[in-house]
Amino acid sequence: MYLGIDLGTSGVKALIIDGQQRIIASATADLKVSRPAAGWSEQDPAEWISATGAAIGKLRSKHPAEVSEIRGIGLSGQMHGATLLDSTDRVLRPCILWNDTRAHAEAAQLDADPQFRSISGNIVFPGFTAPKLVWVRNNEPDLFAKVASVLLPKDYLRLWLTGEKVSEMSDASGTSWLDVGQRRWSQELLAAGHMDLSQMPRLVEGSDPSGGLRTELALEWGMRPGTIVAGGAGDNAATAIGMGTVGEGAAFVSLGTSGVIFAANDAYRPNAESAVHTFCHAAPQSWHQMGVILSATDSLNWFAVLVGQSSAVLTDELGDELRAPSGVFLPFLSGERTPHNDAAIRGVLSGISHDTDRAAITASILQGVAFAFRDSIEALAAAGTQVTRLTASGGGSRSHYWLRTIATALDKPVDVPVAGDVGAAFGAARLGMLAGGNATLAACTPPNIERSIEPDEALRPAYEDAYQLYRKTYPAIRSTMS
Ligand code: XUL
Repeated sequence: MYLGIDLGTSGVKALIIDGQQRIIASATADLKVSRPAAGWSEQDPAEWISATGAAIGKLRSKHPAEVSEIRGIGLSGQMHGATLLDSTDRVLRPCILWNDTRAHAEAAQLDADPQFRSISGNIVFPGFTAPKLVWVRNNEPDLFAKVASVLLPKDYLRLWLTGEKVSEMSDASGTSWLDVGQRRWSQELLAAGHMDLSQMPRLVEGSDPSGGLRTELALEWGMRPGTIVAGGAGDNAATAIGMGTVGEGAAFVSLGTSGVIFAANDAYRPNAESAVHTFCHAAPQSWHQMGVILSATDSLNWFAVLVGQSSAVLTDELGDELRAPSGVFLPFLSGERTPHNDAAIRGVLSGISHDTDRAAITASILQGVAFAFRDSIEALAAAGTQVTRLTASGGGSRSHYWLRTIATALDKPVDVPVAGDVGAAFGAARLGMLAGGNATLAACTPPNIERSIEPDEALRPAYEDAYQLYRKTYPAIRSTMS
């Protein structure tokens, strides 16, 4: 048995697979995001630990025998968060998350230093880790002086699980401190960001061991002390391992809190100008590119809260028949990464008339997110990565209507895996299996496909026109902002 733990933004998921990679059990525990000021997004790392303990507790209470047979653990997590620890490993402040844009000025300042793009292969986005530390230095200098280590969210969970400070290549790629081509910390980038190698965790590959489960936790959970904990991966690379997105050309679309178009690459092909992310994959000598939009299901959740309904009710009331495009929705609730790198931009909903009902607005929101994905597909093409078809993943992919919208907006087939969970927690469990030497990357096969959703040919021209209008709306709105 192998355990995958995915520390997401809205919750922790723990999932057990057996040696044949069959899912035996899974459990979740919710997390909340706190937004103490405009553009801020934080979580208390203590809540990650209690949510992980709760999810594992649920697994134990129903499946004690399987839990006792766990032989490898893999970790996945929301990327880029800055967990700051003092010299006694005490957390110094709430973690500043991936979708927090307070450090936009600091990001622009680092990004203006050409070393960052040339060594890290990426734009320094405001949500990345390095500019957050410069923000803390500028705004919380006493606290900055106490920072002895910086850990990414899942790596803080690892510290609790194993006592070891370790990160791995895929997640470390999103810090702006990694030499992504050479797969090692960059002393130059650390120095330019006022940091030091001594504050960084040790690095391993995602499929390699990083440490062993602490005896105290093992005894509490009825597991073997020292059970191998794999390096793991950032949540997108972990999803890729779960979906078998490991060879050149394989790609998926993820509809989570954030939205991602992910393509695996056999070589390091940075193209920062396109605002595409070029990161290490979770296995040695492989990389990936992705377009990232900050509010995917988050856009729908915003509207669901506003109208007092669940997202599922809102998407269900659209039925299965794709509607003609209507209105323009720009999903920039907390700014945007690909392709705009614009922390200040905010969302737009236009084209409202007397007969616009709730369902029409839901459809416009799903359409706007689909067009944001189309922007990422165009950015990936500019970066030399052609995506021909995509596998669907993430909570939002339960909506058939949304997937039809995406297939039509992108003019690409979207494959829907058979029911089951092949997401980040599953990928993390696979990495737990790999780290114990019980399988190779070849075991990370794609899921069986239940159905393929083709673009709606009749509506394609209308969706193309609507996309062109969507594209024009961003510069128009941008020019009205100071
Ligand atoms: C990727 C990113 C998001 C988070 C969400 O760069 O910021 O996908 O990893 O968990």
